This record gives sequence, C-alpha cells and structure tokens, in this order.
Amino acid sequence: MSLAVYGLAQWQPFAADAPAAADTAGGDPASGQAVFARACATCHGGQAEGGVGPALAGSGLSADDVAAVVASGRGIMPAGLVTGDEAADVSAFVAQVSGGGAAPGDGAAARPGGTAAVTGPRLSGLVIALDEPAPGAWGVWIEGPAGRLRAGTIDAGEGAFRDTDVDGGRTLLGRFDTVIVGSSADDPVLSGAFAQERIDDLLALLVDDPRRAEEGSALDAAAAQVAVLRDHVRFLAAARDEDNLANVRFHGEHMVNITRGDPLQDIDGNGDVSNPGDGVGLIDGPGAHLRRVGLLIGPALSDRDREAAALATVIARDGEVAGSAGSVTAAAQAIAEIERADARLAVVWAQLRRAALTAAVVELQP
Ligand code: HEC
Repeated sequence: MSLAVYGLAQWQPFAADAPAAADTAGGDPASGQAVFARACATCHGGQAEGGVGPALAGSGLSADDVAAVVASGRGIMPAGLVTGDEAADVSAFVAQVSGGGAAPGDGAAARPGGTAAVTGPRLSGLVIALDEPAPGAWGVWIEGPAGRLRAGTIDAGEGAFRDTDVDGGRTLLGRFDTVIVGSSADDPVLSGAFAQERIDDLLALLVDDPRRAEEGSALDAAAAQVAVLRDHVRFLAAARDEDNLANVRFHGEHMVNITRGDPLQDIDGNGDVSNPGDGVGLIDGPGAHLRRVGLLIGPALSDRDREAAALATVIARDGEVAGSAGSVTAAAQAIAEIERADARLAVVWAQLRRAALTAAVVELQP
C-alpha cells in the first residue's frame, strides 16, 4: 500500500475545510460535492475512495482532466452523466479531492504548504495547519540557536498539530527560529523561519520589552494602562453622579495624563499634577503604549492601534474639558463623550490584543 493511499484512508475530503489546492477551472467545488454524491458516488465511492470505478481522491487529476472524462465517458462509465454547470462543478470538486494538478500552463497553481504559529502569552506553544493532510506520518521539529527539538508528530491523514507546551513552557522564539515538517528533519517537506527582526518584535510584544524599565511585555504594559484609564472613566462618571465638581475635575485631569503621559499637566488647577498610570501615556510618541503595541504587531496585521489611539485622543480632549469645567453640568457632555469612547475602546483594545496574541505566524513552504 502506497503512502498516499494510506493517508487517504483517514482523509475526509468532504469536510467543510477540505483543502482547495487544485485548479478548479471555473467550477464551484461546493456545489460539485452534491452532484458527485448523486451521479458518481455509486461507482467511485462516497469518499471518492473507489469502487466499481477507480479511486479519484488523491489521483492528482485537474478539473479539465475530469471534465473530459465526464463528457466522453470511459469504459463502462457512460458519457454525459452530467452536463453544463453541473459538469463544471463536479469536475472542480473531483479536482479538489484529487489534490489535483493545475491545468497545464497554469503557473499560479497553489503549492501545498501551511502555517506555523508560535502561541500562548509567552510564546511557548506551537500550532501548525497544513493546507493538505500529511500523506504519511510526519515529524515536527523546531530549530535555532538552542539546537534542534522534536516537537511531535502529525499523523498520516492529519493536517494539524497543536502543543501548548513544546519545551516545558519555555519561550520558544529566540531559542528557536525555524519550524520543520516532514519525514526527516534533514530533508524537510515544509519549513518556515522567522526573521530575526520579527523575533525581536514578537518577544518585545509578548514576553519582555527591552525598552521598558520594568520587566514585562509591551502588551501587558499597554493592557495595564488601558485598564487604569477605564477604571478612572468609571470614577469620573461616579463623581458626576454624586455631583462632586472637585472629583469631576480631578478625574478629568487623569483622563489627560493617563492618555498623554509626560509632560503631566495640572488641568484642574489644584497645584498638583497627578497621573495614576505609569507616566508613559497611551498615544503620544512612538514609545506610547498603544503606538508601541501597533508597531510591534506590524501594519500588515493590525490597524486597530490607530483606532484605539483616536479614541484615547477623544478621551484626552474631553478629559481636559471636564478637568477644567466650572460646574458638573458644564462637564456632562464631555463625560458622556468619554463614556462612549471608552466603551468603543474596550472593543478595539480586545481586537488589538487578539491581533498581538496571534501575530507570531510563519508560512511553511516546500
Ligand atoms: C457506472 C459507474 C460509474 C459512474 C456512475 C461514474 N463513473 Fe467514473 N469511472 C467509472 C469507471 C469504471 C472508470 C474507469 C474506466 C476505465 O478506465 O476503464 C471511471 C473513470 C473515471 C475517471 C478517470 C479516472 C482516471 O484516473 O483517469 C474520472 C475522472 C471519472 N470516472 C469521473 C467520474 C465522475 C465525475 C462521475 C460522476 C459525474 C463518474 N465518474 C461517474 C465508473 C463510473
């Protein structure tokens, strides 16, 4: 039994996420699946695994190959079982499950590959998603300055690997930079490597930011300041509800100083500049928390930092109004704006955080 056939025994070509590697020549494989079940499965098997007719799964046929056989028939297979759109769709579907080659001359054919993601808040996990299931059992290795480590196995017919704790919970990036998949580490089928610059950014983002005085990641530092800001939005609203002008002004000043950071300002005029945050600010300058996180995630992955910074800017502006208001009533509209911006900031920050936590991805290629 060949490796390819062995792999197909566990492969479910009808799964919704079946790989779309083949040239489908204009047909719609999703519709083709139903046509196949009706017109072809009796002879070729429900999973295209073969029966009266030969196995089509894994046969490497292109959509054009299939369309030609469907049109003209072959052996006991009648010609013209389906025609028109149905023929195009079923051909696309069969090409897809056959893992089929593209039509000749089509240089843009998808090549099998996948992605590897280093995951977890300390970048200690590894998740691999292959575009196509492994035809045989494949090993997974990581390699880099710390040497080579076998992370595990992708079983034949499987397309995924997941281990949240590859090396005793230790941070992988920096010690390892390359992910290898195949039957031997020395002769990889697929591999991908993180560039050193990217590794530095990802480590700063998620593990430890060398630009910060204290230990900790840029993401955690930003999260802490966003939390401080949001707490003080609540304090500001409470001061309004209690009709306490001094506290409205006090927390209004906090809006300005948490978001803008250094130089701190005495907005409420009480002779004391106060900032319950870490002094750095969320928006001003490239080192400001939201900008730093956005820079480290990279522009290709997130533009949420700009929206978050715009919301923080609104909060600073209206905080200045509240911080110097002559009455609670005069501050009411600014406080309402701050509450609206804060609610939106919670959403955008969650998206930014998710982008950060999923930023350590590298393509696996032959
Ligand atoms: C009555 C049984 C039967 C039905 C129904 C049938 N086939 Fe076939 N098919 C066969 C047989 C048998 C062969 C092999 C013929 C030969 O080479 O002698 C074949 C061959 C093929 C081949 C060529 C395989 C290769 O490796 O070159 C393709 C493609 C194919 N069929 C697609 C389909 C599609 C698509 C349908 C549904 C629209 C379908 N068949 C319906 C029996 C059937």
